[in-house]
Amino acid sequence: MAKKLSYSAPGRICLYGEHQDYLKLTVIPAAINLRTTIIVEKNNTNEIKIESIDLELVDSFKITDDLSLVKNEFDYIRAIIMVLFKEGLVKEISGFNVRISSQVPIGSGLSSSAAILVSWLTALNDQLKLELNRIEIADLCFIAENKILGINCGIMDQYSSSLGGIFSLDCDGPPHKIQRFTTNLDGLVIGDSCVRRSANEPLTLLRNQITSGFEKIQKQGDFKLRSLASDTLTEFRDTITEDEYRRLLGVITIRNITERSSIELSKSSNQDIECLGSLLTKQHTMLRDYLGVSIPELDNLVDVSIKSGALGAKLTGAGLGGCIIALAPRREEEVAHAINNAGGKATICKIDYEGAKKEQPFAIFI
Ligand code: GLA
Repeated sequence: MAKKLSYSAPGRICLYGEHQDYLKLTVIPAAINLRTTIIVEKNNTNEIKIESIDLELVDSFKITDDLSLVKNEFDYIRAIIMVLFKEGLVKEISGFNVRISSQVPIGSGLSSSAAILVSWLTALNDQLKLELNRIEIADLCFIAENKILGINCGIMDQYSSSLGGIFSLDCDGPPHKIQRFTTNLDGLVIGDSCVRRSANEPLTLLRNQITSGFEKIQKQGDFKLRSLASDTLTEFRDTITEDEYRRLLGVITIRNITERSSIELSKSSNQDIECLGSLLTKQHTMLRDYLGVSIPELDNLVDVSIKSGALGAKLTGAGLGGCIIALAPRREEEVAHAINNAGGKATICKIDYEGAKKEQPFAIFI
């Protein structure tokens, strides 16, 4: 007789600070009310048997301390097991039946990867009594995604999914400075372009261009990306390629936008919501024109959202596909309608304040 228990973790949007986390700058993500749920049940074997309800796929593997990836959809499940052994957190793991279902669309910039990693590690944390806190869960999921699965991501997605809510996260650490905001930020609408892509492509391209440009500038003085001014960057324009210049200007402008929005979000009253909206759109312009990670489908969804009453909008996630997010307090329905009419798929969403969690036990015995 095995008891089935359910655990879940949210997807996220990135409001401010796109392409800043892997550069150790500050990001402002918000967890959203779309979740990935994992139901686990001990199966008295030494195997993990997995079923994805959405993908209609199954898989299984033996649990060993020298597990490797097999390049399929369930490598996320393997990667967490590999991290637990590698970090010396477990000596053995018992077998489980695992059922995964998700409201977070895959490859859409809403952090479906972090939601599955975080919900699975939250499940194992409880089942194996590992006593990891939410930050430790986020850090281990980052190791799984970055070091084991080889995605050139930063720490934003794992922290957002594990902690929930809306906060600014200084990615220069550990420890990472976190400032929680209490705002409800009503009127968030997601617009899915339905163009799917692997986040690793824009992440790898940008990371290489930004790092190589910045390394050239650092040879000429002790500059920091956290404080580099655009005038200083312009002085060195001739020493870097045009692409490197544009990427770096995009990064430091988004850094400044994030600092400005953080001041606004931390106000306990009289927040300038119109300013927060226009900072979203300014950021989209930088992502489109300087970082080069937008596509016409995303630009169009941003435009129709603003024309139908949103205060601002931007793509969310790595770019080159996936979703936009619009801020449209009291105009959610109109904006959702416009997104749907433009060929996108709209979801009016709310910020999730719970983060990863164990669901109320629903006693199913077999
Ligand atoms: C992906 C990565 C994040 C972040 C964003 C871009 O979602 O997983 O860590 O780098 O792209 O802001």
